[in-house]
Amino acid sequence: MKGIILAGGSGTRLSPSTNSINKHLLAVYDKPMIYYPLSVLMLAGMKEIMVISTPADRPRFEELLGDGSELGISLSYEEQVEPNGIPEAFMIAEDFIGKDDVTLILGDNIFYGQGFTTLLRNAIKHHKHATVFGYRVKDPERFGVVEFDHQQKVISLEEKPVEPRSDFAVTGLYIYDHRAASFARKLSFSKRGELEITDLNKEYLKREELDVQLLGRGFAWMDAGTHDSLFDAAEFVKNIQQRQGFKLACLEEISYYMGYIDNEMLMKKGKSMEKNDYGKYLLEIAGRKHTQQYWESIDQNPMLGLVENE
Ligand code: TTP
Repeated sequence: MKGIILAGGSGTRLSPSTNSINKHLLAVYDKPMIYYPLSVLMLAGMKEIMVISTPADRPRFEELLGDGSELGISLSYEEQVEPNGIPEAFMIAEDFIGKDDVTLILGDNIFYGQGFTTLLRNAIKHHKHATVFGYRVKDPERFGVVEFDHQQKVISLEEKPVEPRSDFAVTGLYIYDHRAASFARKLSFSKRGELEITDLNKEYLKREELDVQLLGRGFAWMDAGTHDSLFDAAEFVKNIQQRQGFKLACLEEISYYMGYIDNEMLMKKGKSMEKNDYGKYLLEIAGRKHTQQYWESIDQNPMLGLVENE
């Protein structure tokens, strides 16, 4: 399974904050926005991940995240010249995807909830052709909406419908087989001048190959694309972190518990940032007596469902 983070776009709703910096490099509380989607892919077990951004911003992402070796993963970078829509990512990443399945996450989407990692890992394990994730919202008319029957079989998909047929929005997390690129190539531009992810999903639906996984009421799904939602997301992260003492989307912590980096590497990274909270947190984890095996043995969950039983 390959992973893609789509972090291009124009970010006009966050202007002027995004006039000279890519939206996904802005902080959501104490770390850059892109850490959150990257943490999702890492927790799901992906080690080969491509970040697609704009030609101007690519060097900044490379500077921030490097080739992934410090996290024990492999990161590569590509460019989307114009924000032509989400499906274009699969054409850009066609060689990278090859014959593998691929999970794409939008760079401004934040997912959180007990058991989310397990749910995603199970969705990947049972994935056949295309899987989207549905989340109940109060204002479905603002989203791509998925309608399904009582056996959770998808019946319809609509983009920003005036009269939605369900309350379930399609989130910015998608799993496809390797045909995504060739299907994307056949799509036409919509009235708003973009290739639409809903149209790609309809290609799979037409073949009865689209599955939906529902994220229940215990999950939080947010995008951080407007000033209010960015502020709300930051507040959410701050509250959870302060209450529980765990950081959300701490990439080095995830690498450590996944067994990608050792104690020495974690310690080194922590020391390089020991003057700030993030560095102190890494040092605290590195200094903990208990290892991943310990947490597993007592069936505890020190992070986002990382060691829950599948
Ligand atoms: P949007 O929020 O639809 O668009 P945007 O990020 O350009 O922002 P704005 O509407 O304020 O101008 O994009 C959702 C996510 O998808 C976001 O993380 C950017 C990403 N994206 C791309 O990388 N390329 C694209 O062509 C599109 C449409 C979105």
